[in-house]
Amino acid sequence: MPATTDNSALPVLDDAFMQDPYVKYARLRAEAPARRVLSRAGIPVWVVTRYAEARQALSHPGLSKGVDGIKKAIDAQVEPGAHRVEYVDDLQSHLLNTDPPDHTRLRKLVLKGFTPRRVDDLRPRIEEITARLLDDLAGTAEVELLDQFAFPLPITVISEMLGVEEDRHDDFKKWTTALINGVDADSVNSAGRSIGEYIAELVARKRVAPGDDLISALIEVADGEDRLTEPELISMVFLLLVAGHETTVNLIGNCVYDLLRNPQRLAEVRADPALVDDAIEETLRHESPVNLATMRYTAEPVRLGDVEIPADELVLVALGSANRDERRFERAAEFDPARSATGHLGFGHGIHFCLGASLARLEARVAVRRLLERYPDLSLGVDPAELRWRPSTLVHGLEELPIRLR
Ligand code: HEM
Repeated sequence: MPATTDNSALPVLDDAFMQDPYVKYARLRAEAPARRVLSRAGIPVWVVTRYAEARQALSHPGLSKGVDGIKKAIDAQVEPGAHRVEYVDDLQSHLLNTDPPDHTRLRKLVLKGFTPRRVDDLRPRIEEITARLLDDLAGTAEVELLDQFAFPLPITVISEMLGVEEDRHDDFKKWTTALINGVDADSVNSAGRSIGEYIAELVARKRVAPGDDLISALIEVADGEDRLTEPELISMVFLLLVAGHETTVNLIGNCVYDLLRNPQRLAEVRADPALVDDAIEETLRHESPVNLATMRYTAEPVRLGDVEIPADELVLVALGSANRDERRFERAAEFDPARSATGHLGFGHGIHFCLGASLARLEARVAVRRLLERYPDLSLGVDPAELRWRPSTLVHGLEELPIRLR
């Protein structure tokens, strides 16, 4: 649709939505499986809210992730001259911006680093980092769980896998927060540039002095003719670093939040620690750390249920809504680790299904299990009404999670 179309009547994914997406989702699901809304930046996008159609959309070949098509579709929707987020070109050639056959090639090259076996080898190190972080909390009555526990664990793990120095973790936190929250174009653009420069420099150093890490392995990787180009390599590292920690922080945080808000469920999990794994799966469904999947566009008209989306439209798949669709999950608004959350779309679906799912599960399981063991009297440090969710439409996680340890 041209930018001149009157979109003022469309529902908006505004700050109120980010604080509680579920009210708006319930309304949208009742109306249709997919409908047009305005993104926070004021761009008209289709949002797919029902489970069956969301799943269908995630594996629909007519829905493309090609970055040029997305840029074109955005340009067609915004006023000329609007101040926008730039695309840092060197960071764009990654899995979440490509369709087959490029996607197939890139995914195959990096998959080796994330096989269940490879991930399981990381378990002792994950246990060690978790134990050290929990030690550091001892002696304090109240902590901010995200900053002091949920953030350092995944960033340390993915940094060690890739070979990123520990003294850059704080910089990374600053940059990726700016990228994910996406509040203003200037800070997003500057964070994107800083991250790009840092990764390029890191890759250059690994070329000269390779180590026993994933970046060095990716530099070396050769699969017939399928070598990674320099922008592909840098973009891959960028995606792994950002995807590798931003979401896992929120899985750990959201799970602890869900447990502390449901004392009965917490008691059940304490009584049977095997339920921790189920609590993690149920969190992926109930408070999905990725609320809306990354942007897609219709390369051709796409039918989802009884809705036909014309070609060249932007599409967001609402994982957080699909996972609470009563058509698929009974008592969907209830947090119940003992239910079977199997089939949830928390890690996406289809060819872009989360590459790091086994790593994220392992980290979150270890983190929550050890936290509950170590601090059996854990409780929320504030009235739940005071908690604020991050101003992001992509990730769904709390700004802060104050916890009393005893
Ligand atoms: C893709 C969720 C952790 C790497 C995805 C997608 C989702 C997701 C929903 C698909 C997005 C789409 O289709 O638009 C999560 C959640 C995590 C998590 C909820 C933690 C709780 C991780 C970790 C890594 C990772 C730890 C890597 C170390 C990736 C990559 C992709 C991806 C590389 C792109 C895959 C592709 O396009 O083929 N993730 N993720 N993720 N994730 Fe994760």
